[in-house]
Amino acid sequence: MLGLFAFSIMVFAVVAVPAKSGGVVCEKSKFPYFVADSTQCDRFYKCEDLKSTEMLCEDGMVFVEELQKCDLPFHVDCTSRPNLQPPKGFGNCSRLNGLFPVNSRCDQHFWCRDGQEILIECAPGLVYDVKQGVCEFPDIALRPGCLPEQFLGFTCPKITGEKMLKFGDHERLAKPSDCRYFYKCMSNGLPRLGGCELGKVFNHETGFCDLPKNVKGCEHYYDKGSS
Ligand SMILES: *[C@@H]1O[C@H](CO)[C@@H](O)[C@H](O)[C@H]1NC(C)=O
Repeated sequence: MLGLFAFSIMVFAVVAVPAKSGGVVCEKSKFPYFVADSTQCDRFYKCEDLKSTEMLCEDGMVFVEELQKCDLPFHVDCTSRPNLQPPKGFGNCSRLNGLFPVNSRCDQHFWCRDGQEILIECAPGLVYDVKQGVCEFPDIALRPGCLPEQFLGFTCPKITGEKMLKFGDHERLAKPSDCRYFYKCMSNGLPRLGGCELGKVFNHETGFCDLPKNVKGCEHYYDKGSS
């Protein structure tokens, strides 16, 4: 009796498992093509000879139907199919592939490929923009915790009128602690870090990069290393 009961449960359980969802109706086509899944951004189907085969992007990538391939998720709208496969990442790679922020640093990110990580550092003055997946000016990235004033440690003075137009779209102010760099105060009132090419320093009188001998207090800026 118990045996029969257990058996019927088992049969029921097998019957109750839903048929694998998805599948798409493939159209007649000379060549194989791919169709996005309607609920999961990293799942898609290969249509070939009117038959569909379910496929998954590599962990961290999502399927882009217009490109007929998997790509990093930046600039891909997954809002209507938000599901994703469970992450297979480890260590500093949340997923096996992709770009991931470094928790404690605004200006670094991990570049992961098959779970192998490379630490990438942005150029001076730039932060890693988590939305775009690139190093970006902090006043464009507007990343919480990495906002320009916090990140650069500089707040622009209120600049109004014609003084603002001195450099087209911004004003320039010296960075007191480093002759080579200066702050650009943009028309949005937020600072950007600017820098002079190697061998030059910022001349706060002209607002342009200049030879060290022309800038009082910065004459020996490039001598430091040799002393
Ligand atoms: C993560 O990255 C940091 C900084 O590069 C490194 O010190 C650490 O060992 C990494 N952790 C793992 C688990 O790979």
